[in-house]
Amino acid sequence: MKYLGSMKEVDGVLEIGGVLVTQLQNEYGTPLYIYDLELMERKIKALKDGFISDKFKTTVVYASKAYLSKAMVQVVDRMGLHIDAVSAGELHTILSEKINPKKVHMHGNNKSLEEIEICVEKGIGSIILDNRFEAKRVAKVCRKFGKKMDVMLRLNIGIDAHTHEYIKTAKHTSKFGESIFDKDIVEIVREIVEEDELNFLGFHCHIGSQIFDELAFYEGIDSMVKFTKEVSKKLNITIPEINIGGGFGVRYTEGDTDVDLKYLMQKIIDCLEKTLESEKVKVEKISIEPGRSIVGQAGSTLYTVGGKKETFGGEKYIFIDGGMTDNIRPALYNAKYESIVANRLLNNEKKEIVSIAGKCCESGDVIIKNTKLGECSEGDLILVSCTGAYGHSMSSNYNKALKSAVVFVKSGKSCLVSKRETYEDLLKNDLSLEDM
Ligand code: LLP
Repeated sequence: MKYLGSMKEVDGVLEIGGVLVTQLQNEYGTPLYIYDLELMERKIKALKDGFISDKFKTTVVYASKAYLSKAMVQVVDRMGLHIDAVSAGELHTILSEKINPKKVHMHGNNKSLEEIEICVEKGIGSIILDNRFEAKRVAKVCRKFGKKMDVMLRLNIGIDAHTHEYIKTAKHTSKFGESIFDKDIVEIVREIVEEDELNFLGFHCHIGSQIFDELAFYEGIDSMVKFTKEVSKKLNITIPEINIGGGFGVRYTEGDTDVDLKYLMQKIIDCLEKTLESEKVKVEKISIEPGRSIVGQAGSTLYTVGGKKETFGGEKYIFIDGGMTDNIRPALYNAKYESIVANRLLNNEKKEIVSIAGKCCESGDVIIKNTKLGECSEGDLILVSCTGAYGHSMSSNYNKALKSAVVFVKSGKSCLVSKRETYEDLLKNDLSLEDM
């Protein structure tokens, strides 16, 4: 396993943010999500430092679906990022912190009336419209509240980015946005522009997630700039803003490339500046919306080993006290991870090929299949790295598992930011069947 951020070995025990994992286990129990705050801050800084231009303003919007908690909102806010939401729940979490609502942006392909009302009432920064029907719905809510709303339109630019089928978002068959190839597309934009209550800012796209192929981003920029040019000409309007989404790939395992975020951002800026210049398009602002690249590597999951089993068929399992309930990604996307026996690093050569399996009643509940691991037995600690994005946020209560606690670590200190769920939490919404 590659040591990420502040990870290091102290007398055979892994330390993150200056805190030994054995200490974290004692204090908070397992399964435990551990976030290296300094690494998150470094990633944010790399994005901000790289995504700067003297030709247009730039904004980095954190895609909160990757990992969201009150503490994360604080981190993002104090580092000067904007933040997006895709549901009333995410909005509620974000707005529960003291944050300027103008820095909040709302996504979603089927926003409910309630969600739109919250956005309008709280006066958030912008709504990214998914389709022409939604534009009408938002305008109606604005009339009800006597307010105006800044909006963008999400475009499907038809780019088949090289990533997992489930996380591609801009194929012609994708459910997101309006296609730039739709024969009515200019009409759709006209309708939005003509709504008195809507202030049309510009276009948004997001081509997918975990993308390493830079060409896909450059193709996306080319198509966004050309489309912006075409529409502003046809409708005789100026279009101030373009948002090119997120999706920057993250190294999970040996086979993945290590991305230098600042350098990648500089190359993206370079491409944006050149394309805008060659197409003679002027915009005031360009935004990006990264999620995974901020929190992915900063998060790890710590588990306690319950036991080992070798099946009749020869499969060697290490059983851990969590599984697909705290990380569904291996089961859902065949996602790969690296791991170590985090409390036994001295003279513990990785020899055996084992599968690390969770405790759910599901054969697919295997966090890492066929990995080389050092010797471990009951009570030892397994750390799975790079689980910070879409791990905790996609966790579930399947088999009535309690959702894990989350702790942030930095400079020798740890701070519990989400308590482990309790059995009372599990039952708080269950009612008895009375008189029936
Ligand atoms: N903007 C929009 C509109 C998005 O839909 C997403 C992710 C992002 C930004 C952030 O993308 P990122 O920088 O994190 O790649 N659950 C999947 C990932 C789903 C991504 C959904 N949209 C996974 O675990 O891989």
